[in-house]
Amino acid sequence: MAQIRLVTYPGPILRKRAKLIENVDGKLIETAGAMFEIMFEHSGIGLAAPQIGLSARLLVLDLRREGEPDYVMINPRITSHEGSFEAEEGCLSLPEIFGDINRAERIEVAYLDRSGEERTLETEGLLARAIQHEIDHLNGVLFIDRLDKAARKAVEQQIRELADATKERNADKHAG
Ligand code: CO
Repeated sequence: MAQIRLVTYPGPILRKRAKLIENVDGKLIETAGAMFEIMFEHSGIGLAAPQIGLSARLLVLDLRREGEPDYVMINPRITSHEGSFEAEEGCLSLPEIFGDINRAERIEVAYLDRSGEERTLETEGLLARAIQHEIDHLNGVLFIDRLDKAARKAVEQQIRELADATKERNADKHAG
């Protein structure tokens, strides 16, 4: 497939609600494969399609822990959640920016797998957190939106610098 690149903040697609996927076909699975590659390249554990410039409700996850599978989730939705816990998060679209976020501790998520089969997964802890973070991406929400006021203020300067760097890089791309 065409070369794909990670979209960094403030790429406009990161703020859009991603489109529902109608067909689970070979092209979609190929896209998921490319997403795994770019995610591994940047040492991430999850990636959502808008982060590669694609408006599609598709995400990939791989915590890279022994005995845990990787996941391709198509049209995922959280059907129930329980508890809450705070932990530090980062995002490949916001490199080097981190902050503590509150998320549900346990979730149940319904999705289509890479064969187009309906699945339900009950999970907790880091995987539950990663799924919530990636589903946020499908709704145009970034983790920095969920920081409390003080935490947001602490990274505000970094966010501004990232926005400038992204704009500069895109200007170069169009010029060259
Ligand atoms: Co992210």
